[in-house]
Amino acid sequence: MEEQGKRRRRVRVVLVPWPFQGHINPMLQLGSILHSNGFSITVVHAQYNSPDPSSHPDFSFVPLPDTSSAPDFTGEIVASIVQLSTNYKACFQECLAQVMSQQGSDEGIACIIHDELMYFSEAVANALKLPSISLTASNAAHFLARSALVQLKAEGHIPFPESKSQNLVPEFYPLRFKDLPILEKLESYLALVSKAFNNKTSSPIIYNTIDFLENSSLEKIQHQWQVPIFTMGPMHRIASTSSSSLLEEDTSCLAWLDKQSCKSVIYVSLGSVAFMDIKELAEMAWGLANSHQPFLWVVRPGSVLGEELIEVLFKEFKENIDDRGYIVKWAPQKKVLAHVAVGGFLSHCGWNSTLESICEGIPMICRPCFMDQKVNARYISQVWRVGLELEGDLERGEIKRAVKKLMVGEEGEAMREKAKKLKENVELCIKEGGSSYNSMNRLVEMIRSF
Ligand code: UDX
Repeated sequence: MEEQGKRRRRVRVVLVPWPFQGHINPMLQLGSILHSNGFSITVVHAQYNSPDPSSHPDFSFVPLPDTSSAPDFTGEIVASIVQLSTNYKACFQECLAQVMSQQGSDEGIACIIHDELMYFSEAVANALKLPSISLTASNAAHFLARSALVQLKAEGHIPFPESKSQNLVPEFYPLRFKDLPILEKLESYLALVSKAFNNKTSSPIIYNTIDFLENSSLEKIQHQWQVPIFTMGPMHRIASTSSSSLLEEDTSCLAWLDKQSCKSVIYVSLGSVAFMDIKELAEMAWGLANSHQPFLWVVRPGSVLGEELIEVLFKEFKENIDDRGYIVKWAPQKKVLAHVAVGGFLSHCGWNSTLESICEGIPMICRPCFMDQKVNARYISQVWRVGLELEGDLERGEIKRAVKKLMVGEEGEAMREKAKKLKENVELCIKEGGSSYNSMNRLVEMIRSF
């Protein structure tokens, strides 16, 4: 038997994020939480969208030896996810061997925590006899809806005709068929779902969600998946505050916000991968201008198809809005949402943005684009009732009406009140004894026991 004193302490956790902002953020937040609980952290990452080591000086960073370019989200997402997994499987195993050889003689790897989209990591961990845990960057409702797609297809519910798109999906209230997280090539997506996500013998799962928001979905997951689950959201509130932004944050917008009156500004951002065409950009611009409400708008480089026309469009637009609007390429979003001047968020409803908005008690206008965002939008507007959905083609009149309704209408006021209550509940969950706090401690104990 190994002598107690000579036993390698398994204190290093290896993190494997999916190389996109919305997935890197929760993974590095989780890393900070584990680091403050005494674990050493190694991040094994892709070479593109690589996190900035200087923002996390306590972590070690190991790039995967692959030089392929970032997947194109205006193309086929499923093919990109599968290709990424195929590219990385072999080199990840090599990387782990390297990490293991770099460990001091008294320190071993406790476990691997991988983004659920880096699903190859589990097989590699099994081969190396290391425990693995999966991190879901989205929420429980999306996880459940995605897992049901295979059954819905087998029962002939999907694909569905346009006439059925507004119908509720049986047993999936509040989701309508149009809200299901279906991706373009249905057959290949379902194959991926079966292989990567519906495997019920797989590892424990961490969700960046909060019990009280998703009780019913979480109960169903716990019933169907007989694995430990950990609900540790909102992790950006539990983790220390260092930023994991891939783009430079334009902090000048905070000074502009300082000059606006309380709760008057609508913040507009579609996250790190959603995009629109130039016509939609023009509708958004004039919808915001015509609302006569101050706005802070993130127009991310690469997020507009037909980008070369932006300058022409914005010239006339900027003359019209004077100082009432402020446009940046990338904002310090969490600080923006926490600013007293911000009273609403027009969002694509990525899960990080949704959680960040809920944490600050900010009601939302939902403009979901794909994947989990449609599910999130439905929960925001129909279950938590802290937002309204902007449906159909983007049109300036509709945008103006939605902004007015949220920012100065009675309906918006009711949503703001609800959002305030959610914020208070979130505070309780992250305090000692709260559900997320307890979940974090259970996770730490489990990793220590490996
Ligand atoms: C992706 C998916 O699209 C999303 O649906 C999924 O839930 C998570 O992964 P993304 O589209 O980037 O994420 O959206 P979101 O989840 O909202 O994450 C964006 C992150 O970037 C947020 O943490 C937000 O604070 C940050 N951000 C966004 C900035 O820091 N500045 C900005 O200007 C915009």
